[in-house]
Amino acid sequence: MRTLRFMENLITRLEGATVLDKPGAALNTALRTVVRPGPVEDTLSGVPLGHPLHPLLVSVPIGAWTSSLVLDAVGDTDGAQKLVGLGLIAAAPTAASGASDWLTTGGAERRVGLAHALLNYAAIGAYAGSWFARRADRHRAGVGLSLVGASLLGAAGWLGGHLSYAQGVGVDTTAFQQFPADWVDAVAVDDLPTGDTLTAVEVAGIPVLVAVRDGQPVALADRCTHRGAPLHEGEVVDGCVVCPWHGGTFSLDDGSVQSGPATRPQAVFETRVREGRLQVRRPEDRALRSNPTGY
Ligand code: FES
Repeated sequence: MRTLRFMENLITRLEGATVLDKPGAALNTALRTVVRPGPVEDTLSGVPLGHPLHPLLVSVPIGAWTSSLVLDAVGDTDGAQKLVGLGLIAAAPTAASGASDWLTTGGAERRVGLAHALLNYAAIGAYAGSWFARRADRHRAGVGLSLVGASLLGAAGWLGGHLSYAQGVGVDTTAFQQFPADWVDAVAVDDLPTGDTLTAVEVAGIPVLVAVRDGQPVALADRCTHRGAPLHEGEVVDGCVVCPWHGGTFSLDDGSVQSGPATRPQAVFETRVREGRLQVRRPEDRALRSNPTGY
């Protein structure tokens, strides 16, 4: 389809636009001074929710601004102005959560994320202008600026969709891993790591993190659910593995997220020892998923 090819060409150019790297890196560094690892980043990332916060928050400004157009169409100018204002208020935390997600992107994802943010900021500017125009009783200008904002918002939303659904930002990177349903040999007990060391073994084509906790072997998915880092290259702190890329921290006991930016827990395999060898199989909850990839 012609439209699709045009969009694909556009996004391919944007993904490869290295001219964005320098301003992107500068902005990233500046934002890092504000969004520090810890409670602020955890909240903005969505750790308490168990899912990224940004997709949840975007529904408020988008819903308010879209509804304001409907009220404009039926002549409820007061109501439309209130919704434009509500969208502006909701845009602040929405932008903050998006910025937090963007901090841990790199390469093509960072470029697309930057363009997504710039379009959104332009949309916010247009809606702010719309609100002030409406307050000054320049209704026609207000509606015009709202339409400009809606157009910018649509373009930004398209890029946001690309970030999530094509580039996988915010997606659990283990979502499509096929963990073995039956017991599979992992490693000899004699070769298990000691102390706070970690190792990775391949089980049915999947990297599995192996450690020993209180004398008992534990096995977790080695690929970090956040952006896919090899967790066995991280370090053990207080019974948790700290991701080597962005510092996400997971309990070695149950895989739960102890600190972000990761929001999804690590899968913890069932383990048993047979004839001096550690065997693993998938956690029970993984059996509930139908996997569309089929392999
Ligand atoms: S890859 Fe980002 S916290 Fe692990």
